[in-house]
Amino acid sequence: MALTEVDHVAIAVNDLDGAIEWYAETLGAQLAHREVIERDGVEEALLKVAESYIQLLTPTRDDSTVAKFLANKGEGIHHVGYRVADCATALNQAVEAGAKAIDAQPRPGSRGTTVAFLHPKTAFGTLIELVQE
Ligand code: CO
Repeated sequence: MALTEVDHVAIAVNDLDGAIEWYAETLGAQLAHREVIERDGVEEALLKVAESYIQLLTPTRDDSTVAKFLANKGEGIHHVGYRVADCATALNQAVEAGAKAIDAQPRPGSRGTTVAFLHPKTAFGTLIELVQE
């Protein structure tokens, strides 16, 4: 398996517009993409940083995992997305090596990507997303 890039660092926020504005004014990071992902109950804003993104995430409904994260832990880093050439291969190899998968199969992510999540329990407390563009 080869991770080809840090695809994104995802940060859970309460106020998406406010966070986008803060990143633009404070760090000069520009909005590259914005999307509501209905099945996950989130809206994301991607800010491009070199070949990677900062992904600002806010819940669109109370039962979304990001809503629960914000309620339990408050704003902050939610997960790290690593870019891979082939999500299914990377997922299988991680599971064979002992990682616990949240997604049994790769599934559609935002901006046309294919993604799968690995559980933080077997990854030193970090939720990991494998991202195939
Ligand atoms: Co992500």
